[in-house]
Amino acid sequence: MRDKGLFITIEGPDGSGKSTQLKKLCSFLKKRRADFVFTREPGGTAVGERIREIVLDKNHPEMDDLTEAMLYAAQRTQHVREMILPALKEGKIVICDRFVDSSLVYQGYARGLGEDVKTINDMAIKGAVPDITFLIMVDPETGRRRMKERDMDRLEQLAEDFHERVYEGYMKLAEKEPNRFFIVDGSLSPNEVFEKIKEKLVKLLGEAGI
Ligand code: TYD
Repeated sequence: MRDKGLFITIEGPDGSGKSTQLKKLCSFLKKRRADFVFTREPGGTAVGERIREIVLDKNHPEMDDLTEAMLYAAQRTQHVREMILPALKEGKIVICDRFVDSSLVYQGYARGLGEDVKTINDMAIKGAVPDITFLIMVDPETGRRRMKERDMDRLEQLAEDFHERVYEGYMKLAEKEPNRFFIVDGSLSPNEVFEKIKEKLVKLLGEAGI
């Protein structure tokens, strides 16, 4: 009997193909009859989904960067306490589409708010550090091309140099914690990307006795 679940997050710049991989990951876990919950940020809880509507709303270009950072941290505070920590305590696998690393990269690095973002998020996450973070990387050019094919939200429609900083920010963050980040090349085919994720995941599940 495990006394702690497994906390898995998926990160990547916009247009990295994260959503496709998440679908594959969930259907893989379902087939294995693993006890897992799938959740996302911004969102995850009723309060968090309300905050999501505000933070991604294209009608608020006037939103201050610090307000944005605090809204992301606020939805995370609720998410961690209402959902993530209780699920982990029950021994579940938690799969989360974006988490604190998105704030460190988008608000801390790309918006330039720096260490303040880490400070507010240390409060928000209450020690919930992911066991593994799958980072799907595509270069800014590829990401932009893929994004153009869909209706963009407030952050996605930001200028090119913003997305370049996002890319750079993820690379720098991953360098700092090579054991937690598992980087996958998102320019490969969706099946090839998933094979790499699956291989690592199976190993992890084995180690965790799941
Ligand atoms: P979403 O529609 O979930 O897109 P994606 O499929 O790319 O995850 O939009 C989330 C957007 O919010 C995305 O552009 C990244 C941004 N974001 C932050 O800037 N900071 C954060 O802490 C989080 C969780 C997301």
